[in-house]
Amino acid sequence: EASTRIRLCSTSDVDWDGAIRVEEGDLTLAVFNVNGVFYVTDDLCTHGPGSLSEGYLDGHTIECDFHNGAFDIRTGEVVTPPCMIPIKTYKVVIEDEHVTIEV
Ligand code: FES
Repeated sequence: EASTRIRLCSTSDVDWDGAIRVEEGDLTLAVFNVNGVFYVTDDLCTHGPGSLSEGYLDGHTIECDFHNGAFDIRTGEVVTPPCMIPIKTYKVVIEDEHVTIEV
């Protein structure tokens, strides 16, 4: 099955060591900029209603501001409970200074 590339935002839309939420079709995503490297995960915390783009980013760890669970945005692995289910991550490609994902 061929993959599709979806353009999410300009690289300049995301602050250094910051995050934004992007809605694209059925997807609600968090786009992170860690020292100029971009990562994309689902925005909705796997534990509840927390929005990860509004969480606290420390290096590659995003802490949900709802119950302070945390994930590694590179792999989606849980770093801190109460989260138990990994967050979905997406393969990022930078194209024409835009953040795109392959789905
Ligand atoms: Fe994110 Fe509970 S909703 S830690």
